[in-house]
Amino acid sequence: MNHLLKLQDLSAEEIVRILDLADQLKYEKKHGIEHPYLKGKAVGLIFQKSSTRTRVSFETGVHQLGGQALFLSSNDLQIGRGEPVQDTARVLSRYLDGIMIRTYEQKEVEDLAEYGSIPIINGLTDYCHPCQVLADLMTIREKFGKFEGLKMAYIGDGNNMANSLIVGGLKMGMDVACASPKGHQPDPAVLEFAKEFPGKFTLTEDPKEAVKDADVVFTDTWASMGMEAEKEERMKLFQGYQVNDELLELAKSPVMIQHCLPAYRGQEITEKVFEEHADENL
Ligand code: NVA
Repeated sequence: MNHLLKLQDLSAEEIVRILDLADQLKYEKKHGIEHPYLKGKAVGLIFQKSSTRTRVSFETGVHQLGGQALFLSSNDLQIGRGEPVQDTARVLSRYLDGIMIRTYEQKEVEDLAEYGSIPIINGLTDYCHPCQVLADLMTIREKFGKFEGLKMAYIGDGNNMANSLIVGGLKMGMDVACASPKGHQPDPAVLEFAKEFPGKFTLTEDPKEAVKDADVVFTDTWASMGMEAEKEERMKLFQGYQVNDELLELAKSPVMIQHCLPAYRGQEITEKVFEEHADENL
């Protein structure tokens, strides 16, 4: 059974195959060529957190592939009332052909995969955001035509995005640098994974070091969904980790700026930098 739970589970070849297929589907969509690979199939989209882009892209994507998408808000599901994930997994496996889930704990996604009998796609957990980073890799390859020789820098909270970018960037042969303050660095399992790529990964507390000669610079919100209570403290802690013109002077020129969105202008990125690079994100 093929699941997409985290990028560590995919080989570099599998990632390239996914990107190639995505390029092909994008081409076919643009040229009005139908590709009903999901004809007669139903995909459940479970959201325990808010979503704009993931919801719309999955709903429209499943539709374009000829299938039916079911938006399942956890507010309306029994899972939101405490039904064990095992039971949800078993019963939904009988109705659906696949599930995309956005939730808090990575374990919940892993449990769905273990107890269900249909493919599970991780649409964001506190630990990682594999679909977003596959899309980011697709965008990078579209723009540069390659990965090798490129440097990716991530500035800010060592969160789900940082975790997936490090894994995806390294797997694709990029140099990856991450600047995060102590106590907010990427997950230890990801840092352990990065050790398999000696000389390709830099972890620093200094955004200037990370951004130096970068071809692509990523950032993300300083307070992810679920961290709302820490917001005030985080606003102070992450000062100095803003992507702004001064920092970008150290990057390659022109530099590509990526943000998974939603973006908070004036916090992790300035209004000016965001607007100048908006087409690269939206
Ligand atoms: N790190 C962000 C990503 C949102 C798509 C969050 O988890 O809220």
